[in-house]
Amino acid sequence: MTTGPIPQPRPATRDDVDAVAALERACFDDPWSADSIAAELAATGRIVRVAAAPDGLLGWSSTSVVAETADLLRVAVDPSTRGRGLGRLLVDDVLHRATESGAERVLLEVAEPNTAARGLYAATGFREIHRRRRYYADGADALVLERVLP
Ligand SMILES: CC(C)(COP(=O)(O)OP(=O)(O)OC[C@H]1O[C@@H](n2cnc3c(N)ncnc32)[C@H](O)[C@@H]1OP(=O)(O)O)[C@@H](O)C(=O)NCCC(=O)NCCS
Repeated sequence: MTTGPIPQPRPATRDDVDAVAALERACFDDPWSADSIAAELAATGRIVRVAAAPDGLLGWSSTSVVAETADLLRVAVDPSTRGRGLGRLLVDDVLHRATESGAERVLLEVAEPNTAARGLYAATGFREIHRRRRYYADGADALVLERVLP
């Protein structure tokens, strides 16, 4: 799973839910459940995307769009595939889809110690607009980042 071509993101379907839940468990201490992921798919105003290789799901993103503001709720890449550009591909894909949906900006929250995610967001044009002190259970601050869409 680590050496094949990086797959292009596509819309997620119900058939992807279990694989996304497995990816969540591989990527987060607080993974979203299959039920939560299915609810994302069913919700209005959601952009849910997956990057699937022939032998498995390598990444996903979920974004909420309400009027002019999109919220990037989740982006994750399988640990076997990190550092090869898929995270950037997923975020760029979100920026395009959010623009198509009429959004004018994308917001997200990231834990200050999450250096990989902060590097990814800096590389895709996000800037810090706010800090939520001790926002997470472990005491870490949350940084609120914004990307203005063209
Ligand atoms: C954050 C994450 C999605 C990055 O995915 P990725 O596929 O490894 O990222 P990419 O290979 O596309 O890297 C894009 C840019 O991000 C930055 N970056 C990626 N990993 C980094 C790291 N470990 N440290 C610093 N910057 C990093 C770099 O600027 C990189 O650009 P470069 O390769 O030109 O230097 C991945 O580490 C992940 O799934 N982490 C766990 C889940 C998570 O924390 N999600 C975000 C919070 S919801």
